[in-house]
Amino acid sequence: MTLSDPDLDVYLLDTDLTAALELDARAGLTATPKTLPPKYFYDARGSELFEEITRLPEYYPTRAEREILVAQAAVIARVTGAKTLVELGSGSSEKTRLLLDALRDAGTLGSFAPLDVSASALRDAVATLRVEYPDLHVRGIVADFVNHLETLPDNGDRLVAFLGGTIGNFTPSERAPFLAALRDRLSPGEWLLLGADLVKSPSVLVPAYDDAAGVTAEFNRNVLHVLNRTLDADFDVAAFEHVAVWDPTNEWIEMRLRARSAQRVHVGGLDLTVDFAAGEELRTEVSAKFRQDGLTAELAAAGFGLRHWWTDQAGRFALALAVAA
Ligand code: SAH
Ligand code: AVI
Repeated sequence: MTLSDPDLDVYLLDTDLTAALELDARAGLTATPKTLPPKYFYDARGSELFEEITRLPEYYPTRAEREILVAQAAVIARVTGAKTLVELGSGSSEKTRLLLDALRDAGTLGSFAPLDVSASALRDAVATLRVEYPDLHVRGIVADFVNHLETLPDNGDRLVAFLGGTIGNFTPSERAPFLAALRDRLSPGEWLLLGADLVKSPSVLVPAYDDAAGVTAEFNRNVLHVLNRTLDADFDVAAFEHVAVWDPTNEWIEMRLRARSAQRVHVGGLDLTVDFAAGEELRTEVSAKFRQDGLTAELAAAGFGLRHWWTDQAGRFALALAVAA
C-alpha cells in the first residue's frame, strides 16, 4: 500500500514495520544465540541517537567519509553526470549535501530521492532539504532497502549513494543478494557510490562502538524500548549491558545486549515468554569492516565494475564508485 504526502512516498507503514518486527522478534528471540536485525534501532529516538553517535570523538566513520566527499564530490559529479541522486538509508542526509552541491554545480542534477525505513528522520531531512535546495525535486521514500528496491525512481542517469558504512550492517549472506538485487534495478552505465568502513586495529574499532559517554550503549538498548512499546514487551532495559566485540574471523564488530542477571521477559504482542540466563547475550548488530580486494570482488560478483576507490588520509574509511556493468 502506498500513502502519499507532499514530501514522502510511503511504502512502509508503521503497521507493516510492526508486522515485520513481530516475525523477526519471534524468530530472533527464540533462536540460539538470540538475535535481532538492526533496522529496528531507528525509531525517532534511535535516529536521534545515531546522529549523536556521528558527533562522538570515538566514532570516526562519519568524519572520515565526509573528508573523502569534500575531496572527491566534484570528481563524482563529473564522472557520473547523474541527473537523479538516490540515497539508501539516508537518515539526515547530512553528508549528502556535499554530493548535491557538486552535482548541482555540474549542472546535471534534477532530483533527489532519499530512502529510509525511519519516517521521522526522512520527514525532517526532506523538509530541510526542500528549503536548502528550492530548485531541486526532492521526494523521500519510506521503504525498506531490502524489500522495496522496486520503489526507486527511474528517470535514467541515476547515482545510488549508500553511505555511512551501512553495507556493513548486512551479514555476508545478506550482502550478496542485496548487491545483486540493486544491480538488477539499475541499467548499464548507472552508478553506485558505496561507503565502507575498513579493517583496522580493535583499539580504534572497539571504542567507536563503546564510547565513553555511553551514547552507543543507549542506542543499542533503545531497541528494547522499541520492543516494549511496539510489541507490548516488559524488558527491564537497565538490566541489559551494552557489549561491543571485535570478531577477527568475520572482521566485524558485534553489538550485543547482555543480561546482567537472569531475566524473564513477556512479549505481550507475541504471547511469548523469553528467558535470558544471567550473562546471556542478544546480538543486535554486526558492523562489518572491509578490505579493497574483498569488496571489489563482491561488487564484481553482483555486476558492478569498480571505477574509483578513495580513502581518507588516515586510511580508515573508503568510498567506492562503481558502475553497473
Ligand atoms: N546514511 C546516513 C545514515 C546511516 S544510519 C549516514 O551515513 O550517516 C543507517 C540508516 O539506514 C538509518 O537512517 C536507518 O533508518 C536506515 N536503515 C536501516 N535499515 C534500513 C532498511 N532495511 N531499509 C531502509 N533504511 C534502513
Ligand atoms: C549505520 N551503521 C553504519 C552504523 C555502524 O557503524 O555500523 C550503526 C552504528 N552502530 C553503532 N554505532 C553506529
